[in-house]
Amino acid sequence: MSTASLPVRAALPEVELVKKLPASVDALLFPAFTGEDGPEFPACPALDKDVTSTILAQLKAVDATGKAGEITRIPGIDTPVVAVGLGSAEDLDDEALRRAAGSAARALRGVSSIAVAFGPVSLSALVEGLLLGAYDYPGFRGADAEEAPEPIHSIAILGDPKAQKDELLAALITVESVYLARDLVNTPSSHLYPETYADVIRAEAKKAGVDVQVLDEKALEKQEFGGILAVGKGSARPPRLVKLSWSPRRARSSVAFVGKGITFDTGGISIKPSAHMENMISDMGGSAAVVAAVLGAARMHLNVAVTGYVALAENMPDGNATRPGDVITHYGGITSEVINTDAEGRLVLADALARASEDKPDYLIDTATLTGAQLVALGVNTSGVMGTETFRDRLAEIGRSVGEPAWAMPLLEEHEKSVRSPIADIRNVDNTRNGGMLYAGTYLSKFVGEGIEWAHVDIAGPSFNEGSAKGYLPVRATGVPVRTFLALLKELAEQS
Ligand code: BES
Ligand code: MN
Ligand code: ZN
Repeated sequence: MSTASLPVRAALPEVELVKKLPASVDALLFPAFTGEDGPEFPACPALDKDVTSTILAQLKAVDATGKAGEITRIPGIDTPVVAVGLGSAEDLDDEALRRAAGSAARALRGVSSIAVAFGPVSLSALVEGLLLGAYDYPGFRGADAEEAPEPIHSIAILGDPKAQKDELLAALITVESVYLARDLVNTPSSHLYPETYADVIRAEAKKAGVDVQVLDEKALEKQEFGGILAVGKGSARPPRLVKLSWSPRRARSSVAFVGKGITFDTGGISIKPSAHMENMISDMGGSAAVVAAVLGAARMHLNVAVTGYVALAENMPDGNATRPGDVITHYGGITSEVINTDAEGRLVLADALARASEDKPDYLIDTATLTGAQLVALGVNTSGVMGTETFRDRLAEIGRSVGEPAWAMPLLEEHEKSVRSPIADIRNVDNTRNGGMLYAGTYLSKFVGEGIEWAHVDIAGPSFNEGSAKGYLPVRATGVPVRTFLALLKELAEQS
């Protein structure tokens, strides 16, 4: 990949708000609710009464219930009607709406144009659910491959084009940010490695009006980024540190993000078993979320200063690779004994956290596919959040409120002892499996500047879905925690 763009991108459906339902669409989406006796199909000004009652009768005839996520196609009318179950009208919250809309969009893959008449529901949640559910990574297939169904091309939503213009725009920027993070994570390491990744970031940042600085391996050496260099040493593809900055004039506060960008994690000399190693193309999910969040904040013109540091390296075993037992010196001077070269994420994050702390941001957030222990502790869907207590709790709460489950986790006293090394300041693992996610948090805390509000978000499970698609959650890259970050930034921009 020599150009500064990703080899393939998922297509984003076009969305517009319309006052009247367009005459020619391939499917019309309406909500159905669960009522006391069977489904309820709310009267809709866009349909005449006879049509409404015909549809209701047809829903009943096929035993539809209106339960959340139930998708029922009703034939026999000019335009096919799709009833989207939203569950009980009283319980409908944003997340239920996003999930149902996502299920509908997935069920309608192959349908080119749809119109949506959902009544007075949250437009942002509706748009997020539909578009995030419609996401389809095209991948790389030869010309003779069987044709896959095309993603939805255009979506017309019944609403108020003027009054809801800003809300639609913000929702679309949010969705595009998640698409960018997903596309980056889904791109295989054959195509995405530190150099090409930095090129893509530079090009995307320029489009969004964000300042970019790329440190190549020479600059990293000169400025003594010993952690990033140590991890990148075993690869023929040298590492990068990319800094992004969105600096609006009337910034209310400043946030620095740090992202783990291991474009492939073999484990290095402490090599991983081969089963499922291919999923380690996703070990740059933290960096992708950081890039997407900084660019999203800029595109929304949020009044908060945002910087992003993404540490990009490929962790490979090689004659020149870092060995277990090596001692390295991080940016800022802290030394680490590398016990296990597979605990590489914390080594690159350490440098980037130390660098980000020099800028003295009000808030510092790092995110990483850091530990298998996150999956053991919290499962595949829930991110672990560590850091300074108030801010940690606030970020976890925001995550839950946008449908990106997150849970606050403690940093432990025992790890203050076990993080010490007999020959260096600290060591990257303590050779027990106990509380592995939390140990990594304690290790990172050593690189966070005094008095900075800090949160560390371990997204090992939630950023990559190895199971099946559900609601608006696709297979493979999920884009977590981009929406959490954008929600935080919106809050900070509006806070006096
Ligand atoms: N990238 C992995 C963590 C990971 C595991 C992410 C599974 C997504 C799914 C990380 O670099 C790693 O290898 N961590 C080790 C640390 C251990 C050596 C202390 C782990 O979790 O096994
Ligand atoms: Mn690793
Ligand atoms: Zn890793």
